[in-house]
Amino acid sequence: MSDADRFPEGFLWGAATSAYQIEGSPLADGAGPSIWHRFAHTPGRTANGETGDVATDHYRRWAEDVQIMRDLGLTAYRFSISWSRILPQGTGAVNAAGLAFYDRLVDALLAAGIQPMVTLYHWDLPAALDDRGGWLNPDIDRWFADYTTVVTRALDDRVTMWNTLNEPWVVSDGGYLHGPLAPGHRNLYEAPIASHNLLRAHGRAVQAYRAVGTHRIGIVVNLEPKYPASNDPADLAATRRADAYMNRQYLDPVFQGRYPDEMREIFGDAWREPPARDMALIAQPIDFLGINYYTRSVSRDDPSAYPVRARGVHQPQHMHTETGWEVYAPALTRVLLWVKERYGDLPLYITENGAAMYDPPTPIEGRVDDPLRAWYLREHLLAARDAIRQGVNLAGYFAWSLLDNYEWSLGFAKRFGIVHVDYATLARTPKTSARYYSEIIRTHGEALAAPLAVLSI
Ligand code: BGC
Repeated sequence: MSDADRFPEGFLWGAATSAYQIEGSPLADGAGPSIWHRFAHTPGRTANGETGDVATDHYRRWAEDVQIMRDLGLTAYRFSISWSRILPQGTGAVNAAGLAFYDRLVDALLAAGIQPMVTLYHWDLPAALDDRGGWLNPDIDRWFADYTTVVTRALDDRVTMWNTLNEPWVVSDGGYLHGPLAPGHRNLYEAPIASHNLLRAHGRAVQAYRAVGTHRIGIVVNLEPKYPASNDPADLAATRRADAYMNRQYLDPVFQGRYPDEMREIFGDAWREPPARDMALIAQPIDFLGINYYTRSVSRDDPSAYPVRARGVHQPQHMHTETGWEVYAPALTRVLLWVKERYGDLPLYITENGAAMYDPPTPIEGRVDDPLRAWYLREHLLAARDAIRQGVNLAGYFAWSLLDNYEWSLGFAKRFGIVHVDYATLARTPKTSARYYSEIIRTHGEALAAPLAVLSI
């Protein structure tokens, strides 16, 4: 082990969660329902009809969860705020009790030496706003900016890292085009409208933040590098479309003020040219970028694959997680270098990275051994360090997720946590991967040098 194995001074070692996935008590203390509350309670929408009514009960067990983070030695925690706890109707009257919950959480984190990173929108739109069209309503940029003002006015004295949106691609593709996620629409014409309004809302929120806040704000995107299945021109074109749809659709507008040319090809007559003033709004300067990385995709031309006409080709030589995602860490290095090269040298954070692997529902003799997740963590941290060595300004890493939690329409069966949750008792047990991560943090990354098998964790 050597100094070269260490991560840079001040590198943030975190874990991430989101409100609806962990909090439970969705209507407590004056909160309004979100679209996820409504969606999960609609028969047939989620696995086994599971909902976030209890989730991991973090709303009541937050102090214990902060203590777990402190014990693991985390230096940062990324969580999201539930819009409808703060503004039950989405706009208008502020619910002080909702704000107080996050106020207490922030204080406890800081007292534990853990820096909060807050995401303002992680998919749980107030249901009252969905009744007004949700992300299809062009007024939503103002609604989101007003909510941003309320929250940042209350917490920016202590929270120094803000994200506007989590993964706008998933909101649009999952919520408006294919429908497995709330609000569950399936409409090609709606998807680009939702995406555009998400980006307008991001820009308007950054503006609102600049008027109130004094720290740093960015956006979180999920990036999935696309590799061509062959050099056939049709596969190369399919790969470009897939990349434009998932990766550049959001980053090109934010950093370059324009949509990729491929958008017109993908959406055909569902695509509408945006006015120039919208693009200027979207391209507000931001202070950092959050990247969620889970997997890559190898793309092949397939006219039946809606809407990009590109299909991911299974890679049998590599392991796949419980959600069917290929484990391929080199693409993380590649995507970090690509972002720097294409969009400039701003600070980057890996705001999510992790894997659903099989874990038993109940600890065995008090332990949850998850060697595959520990291995996934090691591979991806080595890939991240490789990017740093190649000059990427990577300022932190957040494991997804701190806790096993509600995996949206897949319910509770898919476990991503480094800390196990027994859903019968809600007891928390740090898994082997959490202990391993703790050791990596304690040694500033030096522990990554040893092969996993020789560590006794
Ligand atoms: C989301 C999380 C989700 C995770 C695993 C990301 O797309 O931000 O909310 O649980 O992936 O699917």
